[in-house]
Amino acid sequence: MINTIIKQTNMLYKSCCRLFLLFAAVAFTLNTNAQKNASTEAKINALIKKMTLEEKVNMIHASSFFTSGGVSRLGIPKLVLSDGPHAVRSDTGTYLPVGTCLAATWNPKLGYEFGSVLGSEANFHGKDVILGPGINIIRSPLNGRNFEYESEDPYLVSRMVVGYINGVQDQGISACVKHFAVNNMETNRFNVNVNLTERALREIYLPGSKAAVTEANVNTLMGSYNKVRGQWASQNSYLLNQILKKEWGFKGFVMSDWGAVHNTIEAIWNGCDLEMGTDLNQRPHRDYSKFFMGDTVVNLVRSGRIDESVINEKVRRILYVMFKTNMIDGVRKKGESNTKAHQQTALKVAEEGIVLLKNDNKILPLSSSVKTIAVIGFNAERKQAMGGGSSQAKAFYEVTPIEGLRNAGGNKINITYNQGYKIERGATADDLLIMQAAEAASKADVAIVVGGWTHGFNYSVWSDNAYDAEGYDKPDMHMPFGQDELIKAVLKANPKTVVVLMGGGPIDMTQWINNVPAILQAWYPGMEGGNALAKIIFGQVNPSGKLPMTFPKILEDAPSQKLGIISKDSMQLYYTDDIYVGYRYFDTYKVEPQFAFGHGLSYTTFEYSNLKIQAGKKNTTITFTLKNTGSVPGAEVAQVYVKQEKSTLPRPEKELKAFEKIFLQPGDSKLVKIVLDENAFHYYNDIENKWVMENGVYDIMIGASSRKIKLNGKVKL
Ligand code: BGC
Repeated sequence: MINTIIKQTNMLYKSCCRLFLLFAAVAFTLNTNAQKNASTEAKINALIKKMTLEEKVNMIHASSFFTSGGVSRLGIPKLVLSDGPHAVRSDTGTYLPVGTCLAATWNPKLGYEFGSVLGSEANFHGKDVILGPGINIIRSPLNGRNFEYESEDPYLVSRMVVGYINGVQDQGISACVKHFAVNNMETNRFNVNVNLTERALREIYLPGSKAAVTEANVNTLMGSYNKVRGQWASQNSYLLNQILKKEWGFKGFVMSDWGAVHNTIEAIWNGCDLEMGTDLNQRPHRDYSKFFMGDTVVNLVRSGRIDESVINEKVRRILYVMFKTNMIDGVRKKGESNTKAHQQTALKVAEEGIVLLKNDNKILPLSSSVKTIAVIGFNAERKQAMGGGSSQAKAFYEVTPIEGLRNAGGNKINITYNQGYKIERGATADDLLIMQAAEAASKADVAIVVGGWTHGFNYSVWSDNAYDAEGYDKPDMHMPFGQDELIKAVLKANPKTVVVLMGGGPIDMTQWINNVPAILQAWYPGMEGGNALAKIIFGQVNPSGKLPMTFPKILEDAPSQKLGIISKDSMQLYYTDDIYVGYRYFDTYKVEPQFAFGHGLSYTTFEYSNLKIQAGKKNTTITFTLKNTGSVPGAEVAQVYVKQEKSTLPRPEKELKAFEKIFLQPGDSKLVKIVLDENAFHYYNDIENKWVMENGVYDIMIGASSRKIKLNGKVKL
């Protein structure tokens, strides 16, 4: 008895000690953080005190195309910025897959690794800020910049950007979330005014940026070119002052997009902290003090029209970021460029991001009996890194699809190549090229057509051939350069044809989809893309990518086209599709997509079972079992969708609220546990102007895509 008492007292004593140590450690960390913050604040205040008005103003506008102004007298450096978002643009290095490919991995850990590569290479090249991630919602299939962005779904965007930003910023480099906000088309991007409801803004267009600020503490944001409800986004009081800085408590600074500031007073008052890229028509010798946020500001302060405290606040934000990233008195990481590890990240993202859209009769992976392959299509040999506009990358190397297939095939497989089509302005089907391609296909065991969209090479030829490029939207969703005719002819010559599509989003496949047994969506898969693609085609890698956006059958089915309105002079965009973006539209309005949001096939099969849902006071806990029932290892992205059965305002048929990517060996299973908090059930009531969570019954759907629901349950809250 006494022994037991001693034992218990001992245990109690030990537990108390542990608890005490834990408290002490927490208190110590909080205290050190508080001290550090206080001392940084003191340093910032001291610097601001020492600065002249001219020096302060010098810090809030550019000093070259990609630098801000510094104050060398006080040891304040210039900020050195670089695009973004999938490479350090200014220098030769790692060319990562584009944003849509990253999002298609549905793997936030890869988002982190992706960001770490950028952060490390930015350090190596002496940059302070990476102009990425690009997170505008993919609203229309036509947007020329969709490839740079991530998804049509705000939840998927939020999960991926938090990883990306933490990856960049853990290297001591600032990320820059762009473009804030609702910059979802390129046509007329410098002038267009976007009109949208508060509900669409809050539910669809802002959550990615909110997560970036409140979860990842992103250091900088870039205001976009367009107007939002009549006021330029880069000098928009509601977006910048009210929502970003006041509601979300953003501590970093806002820079304008390049040339997005239009007048001094609005920019100064409405939350812009750094003016970049204003076109002064003074090339090559620009006088940066003539920027809107230059000398004019000095005069306005001197004449008492602007209080100096407003300028101090902007300088304070820039200095905060500089201290946070050790630019002033800390030690910067050295960084590395184009290492084997960075290349492996590029490879991994491509392997997990390429999506197997269709695979009839399991034609993929190619069986070992395949001895001859006819590779057809210009995208098989075209390097894509330099395309797209400001996101162009100077790739240290780029493995094209044909190179990747040859690397993997070795000398065991005979691979021929035919161009099939020409990338030229207005080019239509080229009969001779098609005939040659069909002949090659007829002689091969399998034909692989690599086509789809294409990237413009550089600024000067953007408008010539760029279907995925900054500054331009696609004219329609049809396959350019006569590729429909090409694919049909190849199919006729050899029904065993695999189509590989490059591009930032959907393309109209209606002319040939029913006859093609296998389709892969390869995006622009980066410097290792060709190797990743070949590994998937030959089965060394089991595809696990899932579409981060709905692929409509035809353009006319897309909600942006069906419900959205563009004024005749294309100066006004009305987002009358409202919250019905992507699958929220297709599923609610019962429109059959070509490929659903979240869709992606695997070489193995998965079984979902045993769904249990438990409502708690704050959280709802979902558990289910996922089993790999096939014969090869593979990964499944289990997606959790929620629907409110009866709501005050209409809500979509389903909304993605959680997901998990699970890797399983054949025969293995895992008990998956997902916890949903209030955010999974609330919506923005724009009559009351607040987020509301209504009591009632919610359907919980666990699916392999938004259209392949495997388990159904309900919870009463
Ligand atoms: C683009 C930005 C880019 C900036 C600097 C602008 O035209 O919209 O995304 O970061 O140029 O290149």
